[in-house]
Amino acid sequence: MRPIRTQVGIIGAGPAGLTLAHWLRRRGIDSVIIEHRSRAYVEARVRAGLLEQNTVDILSDLGLADRVQREGHAHHGVYLSFDGERIRLPFDDYTGGRHITIYGQQEVVKDLTDAWLAGGGTLLFEAPALRIEAIDTSNPTIYFEHAGETGVIHCDFVAACDGFHGLGRRTLPKGSYREYSNTYPFSWLGILAQVAPSSEELIYAYHERGFALHSLRSSTVSRLYIQVENDDRIENWPDDRIWEELSVRLGTPGWELQSGPIIEKSITPMRSYLIDTLQAGRLFLAGDAAHIVPPTGGKGLNLAVADVKHLVDGLTDYYHHGSTKALDRYTETALRRIWRAQDFSNFMTTLFHKQAEHGSFTYRLQRAKFDYIRQSEAYAATIAENYVGLPFGAFASTRLPTL
Ligand code: FAD
Ligand code: PHB
Repeated sequence: MRPIRTQVGIIGAGPAGLTLAHWLRRRGIDSVIIEHRSRAYVEARVRAGLLEQNTVDILSDLGLADRVQREGHAHHGVYLSFDGERIRLPFDDYTGGRHITIYGQQEVVKDLTDAWLAGGGTLLFEAPALRIEAIDTSNPTIYFEHAGETGVIHCDFVAACDGFHGLGRRTLPKGSYREYSNTYPFSWLGILAQVAPSSEELIYAYHERGFALHSLRSSTVSRLYIQVENDDRIENWPDDRIWEELSVRLGTPGWELQSGPIIEKSITPMRSYLIDTLQAGRLFLAGDAAHIVPPTGGKGLNLAVADVKHLVDGLTDYYHHGSTKALDRYTETALRRIWRAQDFSNFMTTLFHKQAEHGSFTYRLQRAKFDYIRQSEAYAATIAENYVGLPFGAFASTRLPTL
């Protein structure tokens, strides 16, 4: 295989890697993507579905949002439920009209892959990166495998957008970063079902039998989740049991959950994880490669795209103005939103999951938070602005200066 020469070598064709490639192309910067898995595998992987306003705006600016605009569902509010009491948190009142869009992650990946290849971009599937070398020089190298041969990419920068189990984080020098991690004592059992959504907006529910979430993918496909034990197995959950549990946990007087054929089910552990240094020399990490949030609140994909924005800003500054200032500060800039998203995802997780006995101190604190959402405009606004995603400008300044 002939060596490949490009400006930015991108590892991973998930939301982070694909968005990065498109954005760089817009800025006149050349890149090549290598992806471990096959195209069919990546495009079929069922994951997130909640796009923040920022993410949709970015896809629109890049000319990649035609299908999101057409087929995505704009949501201007969310239902929150506690012990069967349901309230609606309207976004528009608290966020100046910002909202979320429901559109499957694999659809985003399909749209971005199609557009990248249609525009003549290079993307090699079934091409796992094996080693990243010379990150301390101006010519780092990525070695990969493809069709039984070893390939090499010579580039100016390596962007590791290779997810939680990728090579990028392992390539950072030992001791160059600190790791923060929390594993929750529960997991999510998620299903896709061929049934019209029973609610036009999402429902997050605390119930004494555990958390439940009603989401959707289209007018004919629903996406639902329930809290299960970490050591639980999918075999323990026949379809009838899942529907019964969802119906009880999401239940509120005068509302009924419609059930239908389940077309996908899986169990996902819940974890908060991050490292506090996302770069070393010419190697930069973005997305799940550097952090994981528990899915309550739907931040994972959006955080990956936000990292990419900061990385694009840095690379543009380098290629257009010869300055490394923004690249040098990439970690610091990205971490502000990463910590905010970690806090919000942890907040949503601990508010709505069953963690301790009904009536316990922990339960009472959860209940007090829910009651406070109903009382306080300020508290409701805090949740709404985090949920729809804070604008990029929000992290540029602090409202209350240090005295
Ligand atoms: P990824 O999407 O993981 O993409 C990384 C890519 O890199 C992958 O395609 C991988 O195959 C590739 N790769 C890895 N190693 C190599 C290598 N050595 N060489 C080449 N390529 C490599 N978030 C939510 O907000 N809501 C949810 O409901 C939700 N559910 C999830 C369910 C699961 C099972 C998982 C794993 C994640 C879920 N997330 C959810 C998180 C969300 O999907 C991620 O935050 C998002 O995918 C991050 O995008 P990314 O591009 O950083 O990483
Ligand atoms: C989803 O639709 O998959 C989804 C929505 C909201 C979340 C998590 C997942 O908080």
